[in-house]
Amino acid sequence: MFSTKALNKSTQRLFSTTNPTNFKVTVLGAGGGIGQPLSLLMKLNHKVTDLRLYDLRGAKGVATDLSHIPTNSTVQGFTPEESDGLKNALDNTDVVLIPAGVPRKPGMTRDDLFSINAGIVRDLAKAAAQYCPNAAICVISNPVNSTVPIVAEVFKKSGVYNPKKLFGVTTLDSIRASRFISEVEGTNPTQEKVTVVGGHSGVTILPLISQTKHSMMPKETREKLIHRIQFGGDEVVQAKNGAGSATLSMAQAGALFAGKILQGLDGEADVITPSFVDSPLFKNEGIEFFSSPITLGPEGAEKIHSLGNLSSEEEEMLATCKETLVKNIAKGKKFIDDSK
Ligand code: NAI
Repeated sequence: MFSTKALNKSTQRLFSTTNPTNFKVTVLGAGGGIGQPLSLLMKLNHKVTDLRLYDLRGAKGVATDLSHIPTNSTVQGFTPEESDGLKNALDNTDVVLIPAGVPRKPGMTRDDLFSINAGIVRDLAKAAAQYCPNAAICVISNPVNSTVPIVAEVFKKSGVYNPKKLFGVTTLDSIRASRFISEVEGTNPTQEKVTVVGGHSGVTILPLISQTKHSMMPKETREKLIHRIQFGGDEVVQAKNGAGSATLSMAQAGALFAGKILQGLDGEADVITPSFVDSPLFKNEGIEFFSSPITLGPEGAEKIHSLGNLSSEEEEMLATCKETLVKNIAKGKKFIDDSK
């Protein structure tokens, strides 16, 4: 048994703010497969003091459920039925996580989701541009390669676009890469770091195996591993057999990413993680968005790192990645141009 005094002390330590900053985080699509566990993980993040959940359905129930967890945040759920539901979810928030939209079924590519998710993301982006133009917007809804440009165009039209505050969440590719390489090498996955660059679908996912400690991996093993990292999402879609795509591993990835964003906003040093952002790396080739490691800070993306040395095989993969990316990005931009 803990004494009340000891408990109070440990609670104080748990909630003690060596860092004075308190953050408001909003999850749009919080009632869904990703949204629920992601909201749980954000409830467990001690930098979050105000958690706001929004969904077409279920957000209030999830919020009430999570509100019983004794961490230092309030949780509120909002629905479109109540007046100002979306406004109240977004008002002045610091970080917006967007997993709203439909997931894949077997046989679908992420691009197949475009027709539904493009409109959902556009409308949520319009609200974010209005109610929290300075927030860090983290897009999970697929196809990320197109939904991120959609958000950028919406923010541009509203005159509030800040390229440092818009992020496509590609963290799932990195965590899969760590796991899969550890299975090949028989190592501890927590000690494996694979830099994954490019975009977030199929051949646009480019894991840089040559930069890992396993660069000498036999060619055939490496090719299989790269393919698994690129198409790992299909394993989940098939196993769920029509019930959706990755939700739990994605929630973990989303929470890791959001945690990095909060660390950056909080002024912590050397916070580096890959993300699909407005990037100078290949702009001269017409590719406006690209994922590479970025340093996060109080203003968002502070430094976009270059890819470093690539093997000749990776150079070839990069060329294929760019060919697809340029089309995916153009598709997102055109969607907003056409929806005047
Ligand atoms: P889900 O169908 O379980 O949940 C989506 C939620 O969004 C639902 O609760 C739905 O009511 C809500 N929603 C739909 N329209 C909305 C709107 N206008 N406003 C607010 N909420 C709205 O789907 P799941 O599995 O959570 O996946 C969500 C998205 O995340 C999909 O597009 C999926 O492809 C994507 N995804 C992205 C990954 C990544 O690595 N970036 C990985 C896995 C999935």
